[in-house]
Amino acid sequence: MSAEIIDGKKLAESIKNEIKTAITEREEKSLPLPGLATILVGNDPASRTYVASKIKTTADLGIRSFSYDLDENCPQEELENLILRLNEDPDVQGILVQLPLPGHLSEDEVLHTISPKKDVDGIHPFNAGLLSRKYSEPLFYPCTPSGVIRMIQSVCPDISGMNAAVIGRSSIVGMPTAMMLSRCNATPTICHSYTKHLDEICRESDIIVAAAGSPGLVQGDWVKPGAIVIDVGINHIPDKNGPRGYKLVGDVDFESAVKRAGAISPVPGGVGPMTIAMLMANTLKAIDYR
Ligand code: GUN
Repeated sequence: MSAEIIDGKKLAESIKNEIKTAITEREEKSLPLPGLATILVGNDPASRTYVASKIKTTADLGIRSFSYDLDENCPQEELENLILRLNEDPDVQGILVQLPLPGHLSEDEVLHTISPKKDVDGIHPFNAGLLSRKYSEPLFYPCTPSGVIRMIQSVCPDISGMNAAVIGRSSIVGMPTAMMLSRCNATPTICHSYTKHLDEICRESDIIVAAAGSPGLVQGDWVKPGAIVIDVGINHIPDKNGPRGYKLVGDVDFESAVKRAGAISPVPGGVGPMTIAMLMANTLKAIDYR
């Protein structure tokens, strides 16, 4: 038997259509429109592609876009001053600083500088803290984890009591995904490069979220029959015969895992489009915090 494919692209389209309708309604009522500022520092080609895709989506949905392209050697102070200006700008509801930043910049200090009310990425320590508190709500949930949860709930609306393996403990994906799974009453195990018997933990999990940045790490025989598998990995590997010389693969060995999983997300066309859709949803929500 082959798994149901969780089509992130299709799911993202339906979320974006809802956002577009809401923005058109605001336009008709002459209400203020949401604006998103994107800040890209340096020349990392993958970051450049992601930011371009975010800017294109804002235009498609009627969100106003303010893009800042800063030099690789941009000093910390210049970046922080830009953020402080955007914090005060009434036309900007959301500020996104694309990560990773060049090595000389302190990511932590940069994230602290963003107003939590404009933190549409949901990664400011204030929002991350609220996410981890049982009776609190963050102003924004982080985008990739929100997309992951929506994808899981598209095939299984109630995950209460399920075991979940989250592979990766980054501040932007792994950790907040585990928090969000717990908020949905699942039981997450946070796995990382020091975790022993990762294969066994996966075999006991009803849900696997792979966000390790390791191509093909999760093998088909690690997947419990019928489990939900969400692949967050975006890895570029050489492909001599392909037109671009490389191809994109996830952290899951799709060919073998699709035979055992109940539902699985592909790469590309899985989590990637959902991250952008959730960013747009957060930018629309940010209007409430003006
Ligand atoms: N780099 C990779 N993913 C993301 C993301 O979701 N937000 C930001 N700001 N940077 C990223």
